[in-house]
Parts: sequence; C-alpha cells; structure tokens
Amino acid sequence: MSGETSLVIAIDGPAASGKSTVAKQLAAELQIVFVSSGGMYRAFTWWVLENGVDPADTVAVEALLEKTVFQCGEENNIGTIAVNGRLPEWKQLANDRVNGGVSLVAAIPAVRLRLVDEQRAYARKRGVVMEGRDIGSVVFPDTPYKFYIDASPEVRERRRRAEGIDDSIAARDKMDSSREASPLVIPKDATVVDSSHLTVEEVVEKVKEVIVG
Ligand code: C5P
Repeated sequence: MSGETSLVIAIDGPAASGKSTVAKQLAAELQIVFVSSGGMYRAFTWWVLENGVDPADTVAVEALLEKTVFQCGEENNIGTIAVNGRLPEWKQLANDRVNGGVSLVAAIPAVRLRLVDEQRAYARKRGVVMEGRDIGSVVFPDTPYKFYIDASPEVRERRRRAEGIDDSIAARDKMDSSREASPLVIPKDATVVDSSHLTVEEVVEKVKEVIVG
C-alpha cells in the first residue's frame, strides 16, 4: 500500500514521450509539486559515477547505496534530491554518461526500494504530479489518476535530437521494459495518450479532462 492522502497524478511512459513537459505544466496549473522520478534515479547514477563505481557492478552499487543518504525536498514546486548533501545540477544528470548508466542502476531492486520510499513521502505532504516508468503500477497503485504518455519512436528520437541531447533512448527503453524489477508497463487502469501529433497544451487538456471528469 502506498497510503497517499493527497491528490496524486501518476504519469508514465517511455523516454522522450513528452511526459515530463506535460507533468511540469500540469503541476504548475494545479499548484502542486512536480517530481521527476527519473531525475532521482539519475541523481544516484551521477553519485555512482562520481565515486568511480561501474553502474554494471551491482554489488559495488549496492555497497555505495548503503552509505548514501538522500534528502528530497522541493524548490518552486519542483522536487529536488540531494545525495550525501550534494545537489546535482541538471546538466550533471542529463548527459551521455548518466544516460548510459541509469537503466542499469535503476534495475537494481535495492535502489528502487530506497527511491520509491522517497517518492511516496512526497504524497504524504501534499499533492503531486510524478512522472516515471512505474508510478501508476508500483509507486502509487491506488491513485485513480494514472496516465501513460506515448509517442512514436521517430518522434521521440527527433525530440531528443532537438534538445541537443545524445540519448540512447532505444537501448534505455529496451532495458526499462524488459527488467524484472518494476518494468515499464501500461497500468491496466491508465488513460493512454499518444502525444506524437499533439502539442503539450493538447496533452495537458486531455489529462485535465480526465481529472476534472
Ligand atoms: O525519465 P528519465 O528518462 O529521466 O528516466 C531515466 C531512467 O531512470 C529511465 O531510463 C529508467 O531507467 C529510470 N527510471 C525508472 N523508474 C522510474 C523513472 C525512471 O527506472 N520511475
């Protein structure tokens, strides 16, 4: 049981499906906090790399996790995560090295247990829009507001290139969908939105229609 008492909007989907932009806008309109759970997995992956640990070395990653303290908070309605007192900047989280290691680190069950605890803590304080891969399926299975935002592989590749980010999205999606621990799935009670040919505003409207009823 996730035990949330506040409004929780869960948005899942593959890399570069547009879910982050939509979640951010929705949170701003609803005046609730926006949390990128991917950002949390990225932050720990950054810490793994900072410590010279190979993301593929599960035993070493788990040993580092034991010594790691996370502090999650928010700034201007956006979730933040400090790792052992250090707050990584976005460019430290969205780069080739982190992109290449994050799916390996996120596949480790002990890592997920720790970060899912932190994710659930947000909803104990106030309303939240959280985006990720397992938010509706595992983190907040009881919320009635579950969305799965998709887009064609071509559109997703194009979006990443337009951001100037070299991202191995096909490889990440494959790993994220095929792993044993909390794989990317479409929650059975989720509303699926294909954002390939929609603007951000149009997707936000579709999500709001479901929430308002
Ligand atoms: O959303 P973003 O692309 O920043 O996520 C980075 C990575 O973090 C994903 O490719 C996935 O491996 C992992 N992730 C996850 N579960 C989540 C969110 C992200 O495993 N809920």
